[in-house]
Amino acid sequence: MSQYDKFAKEYIAMRSNMFDKKMNAEFPVMLQLLGNIKSKKLLDLGCGFGDYANIYSKKGAIVTAVDNSKKEIEHAKNLSIPNTKFMVYDISKKFPFKNSSFDIITSSLVFDHLEDVDTLFKECNRVLKNKGIIVFSVTNPIFYQEGSLVGKIKILGKKKIFGNYFERRKITRKWGGTATMEHYHKPLEDYFSALLGNGFELLSFKEPQPKTEKITWHCRNPTFLVIKLRKK
Ligand SMILES: C[S@@+](CC[C@H](N)C(=O)[O-])C[C@H]1O[C@@H](n2cnc3c(N)ncnc32)[C@H](O)[C@@H]1O
Repeated sequence: MSQYDKFAKEYIAMRSNMFDKKMNAEFPVMLQLLGNIKSKKLLDLGCGFGDYANIYSKKGAIVTAVDNSKKEIEHAKNLSIPNTKFMVYDISKKFPFKNSSFDIITSSLVFDHLEDVDTLFKECNRVLKNKGIIVFSVTNPIFYQEGSLVGKIKILGKKKIFGNYFERRKITRKWGGTATMEHYHKPLEDYFSALLGNGFELLSFKEPQPKTEKITWHCRNPTFLVIKLRKK
């Protein structure tokens, strides 16, 4: 069972009801970097319950959207989004698509759930057409340093070095009361080795900052990265 299946209902409710820092900071930058997607064949990796796929479809893309959470995909399918196909799939494995199938790959806050991004970018290269584009976001690796959030440390009169940016590791943290969430902390170097080593050139690198003081912490700390690549 995928980890999101264990709390899909709460996750969908949380994302649908509260002020969403992703919608304020990360997603506008994703859309800006994606540009015109009309009539493009777009693959959304780790699509969740389909809210971004819905927006891509409204902008005219022909969307294939995959996630390994059966419950989220079930929810997404019920939205009956035009020109959009949803599939349950684990993207840490070889993709079930032919070579050169897509113009664009997009992925929002998913790659930090994967341990191995080298295989992932190899697969992205294979299924993208020549000069195809990837726009993806991840939680900024600096965010994970204490094992949960940077900035929650208390320094009780003593100097304390906390976190270890260079240590690749699985981080398990409590989420929404009962659930646990697993991520793999990777230094930025791992993303760049994987994307540059698998035939991509870097077009853009952004650290989105929210435009509201409603989420002060996120206005002052680098919560997200959004990266745009082109297949060479
Ligand atoms: C933070 S959520 C983001 C969902 C969606 N992209 C969004 O921005 O709303 C991370 C998503 O990645 C999916 N995911 C995690 N590991 C995955 C894997 N190995 N294969 C496919 N999906 C995965 C989870 O099920 C979850 O829906």
